[in-house]
Amino acid sequence: MKLLVCGGAGFIGSAFVRRRLASTADSVVVLDRLTYAGNRANLAGVEQDGAFADRYRFVLGDIRDAVVVNHAAQGADAIVNFAAETHVDRSISNADDFLQTGVVGLHVLLEEARRSAAHGRPLRLVQVSTDEVYGSVASGAKTEDDPLAPRSPYAAAKAAGDLLCGAYHETHGVDVVITRGANTYGPHQHPEKLIPLFVTSALDDLPLPLYGDGRHRRDWLHVDDHADAVGHVLDNAPPGTVWNVPAGEERENVEVVSRLLELLDKPWSLVRRVADRPGHDRRYAMDGSRLAALGWRPRVGFEDGLAATVAWYRDNRAWWENVRGPDWQRWYETQYGSRLETSTPA
Ligand code: TYD
Repeated sequence: MKLLVCGGAGFIGSAFVRRRLASTADSVVVLDRLTYAGNRANLAGVEQDGAFADRYRFVLGDIRDAVVVNHAAQGADAIVNFAAETHVDRSISNADDFLQTGVVGLHVLLEEARRSAAHGRPLRLVQVSTDEVYGSVASGAKTEDDPLAPRSPYAAAKAAGDLLCGAYHETHGVDVVITRGANTYGPHQHPEKLIPLFVTSALDDLPLPLYGDGRHRRDWLHVDDHADAVGHVLDNAPPGTVWNVPAGEERENVEVVSRLLELLDKPWSLVRRVADRPGHDRRYAMDGSRLAALGWRPRVGFEDGLAATVAWYRDNRAWWENVRGPDWQRWYETQYGSRLETSTPA
């Protein structure tokens, strides 16, 4: 297949590109705007490997630009869309980019797929979404047929995108499939998210800002599993379908943090209890039986995955120090400065 991978320089997108090139004969065009979270260094392994030279191409551009998308999609059999703003805290400070990429940009991709089909070249669109569209789950686990109930601007932008995909499938017959992944972790994740923020901060003996009581629950999916699940859905799912991608590794934040401190041999005293995130979802949980019936299950257990991830950040200081430039410093100060001043021991 010929794939256009949007957001292919990001955390999950780059893992998908790396693994897809290595395990199939597909060719890949990456389209990425290289915002703060998109990082060409994530693709260095692919770009330096001569084995992929004739099957890989990078295009710098924005999915909101229909001309750029149209050129990049020439000859493609499928578009896989990882392009998104993904950090809930940033969506609380400013939701504009989230709506621009998650709704306006996705609409451009849907239009490209519609036009391509109208010209006799059906194009599959895989939209990479999130468990956060279901909102906070008090008990049990959400199935793909449960209503969407997003509670953060980030989740609302993703839910809007999911609804738009459904509408384009129903109205225009666009071949679109949606994956909803759990909280993802692993190498190359921007250090604004819980696990990389806490690992990189702990390596430098900086405080670890734990929101509220730290008893929020997340299901932790390794990035390689997430990438493979998207590939499995791309290859096997019927048009117009939605697929939960849980890991079955639900943990309270305090458990995750104490495990990573153990792995780093750092003390719990680094952890500071800070003011909670507004609207903080207590728990995410998805039922994965639909995807299991399609023949896919996660492979990486949380214990092994976390140990390997911690080792990666320990061994790749240059990667994350490079990501933490002046923009990052500003973000960190705005997000955590006053919170840490008023923090208490956790
Ligand atoms: P995060 O990695 O931002 O993912 P999401 O909010 O999309 O689930 O956060 C994971 C959990 O960790 C979430 O319950 C919020 C919490 N958290 C903290 O306690 N402190 C932090 O500094 C961050 C970034 C997250």
